[in-house]
Amino acid sequence: MKIVAINGSHRGAAGYTQFLIDKIFAGATENGAICESIPLARYKIERCLGCNHCQSPNGILKCIYNEKDDVAAIFKKIEEADLVIYASPVYIFNISGLLKIFLERFYGTSNVKDLKITESGLFFHHVNKSINSKPFVALICSDNMEYKTIQTPIVYFKSFSQFLDAPLLGMITCQGGTLTGHGKDKEKEKLFPRIYQVYEALKQAGVELAVQGKITLSTQKQVNRQIIPIPRFLFGLKPIKKKILQKANEVRNA
Ligand SMILES: Cc1cc2nc3c(=O)[nH]c(=O)nc-3n(C[C@H](O)[C@H](O)[C@H](O)COP(=O)(O)O)c2cc1C
Repeated sequence: MKIVAINGSHRGAAGYTQFLIDKIFAGATENGAICESIPLARYKIERCLGCNHCQSPNGILKCIYNEKDDVAAIFKKIEEADLVIYASPVYIFNISGLLKIFLERFYGTSNVKDLKITESGLFFHHVNKSINSKPFVALICSDNMEYKTIQTPIVYFKSFSQFLDAPLLGMITCQGGTLTGHGKDKEKEKLFPRIYQVYEALKQAGVELAVQGKITLSTQKQVNRQIIPIPRFLFGLKPIKKKILQKANEVRNA
């Protein structure tokens, strides 16, 4: 089993996204998977210019940047992998700009004039299946703990899966990064002991990816649980919100 993680954090390998990927990789490598992280921030990724050279008779499926940046080499790694983890911090309520810029380069691998209907019944065009349709896990992390913060990236990855016929093997959302010290502040972690269960569940997700090629719903539930042990419906009540806010400010400023 070969797993490639595409990390869209602008902090690259130094960030929380990588910390979470590494937890998954720990479980996967212990079970024989070969894992590789690609922190996009470390690579040269040009943005698609929409020049349509890749759709012209002379340049069909050839991006003008093919030999000039690192995207073709990263696509090759995706092709060679059994599954991909697309990982991103939430930046202004969505996936990071860097990951989006990378994913927009899929355009240069598709013949957009060749229309089809996807397996999920949507109108779309030809895509390069060996790159675009690779089975994937979405990993999203954020500081804010409101569900709304992660709603857009979740919808994004579900659409991604449906339009590209890319099987979605698991949706992982880890919220409250700052509160729990972004995997770096052990004292902050101690204030939210549930985070250790989340870390364990991330490792278990890696085990399941290596052994059965997907993450079970029960493990996803464990990973995605709130680190503050309050049910979501109470979490939305204003007096409780005020208390959480007070506590959060104390912890943040500690
Ligand atoms: C430019 C920028 C925008 C951000 N926007 C949000 C946001 O909209 N919601 C949120 O909860 N966190 C937001 N964050 C916080 C990050 O999602 C969070 O700290 C994440 O754990 C960072 O991961 P990283 O260390 O791998 O970059 C933002 C951070 C940055 C740098």
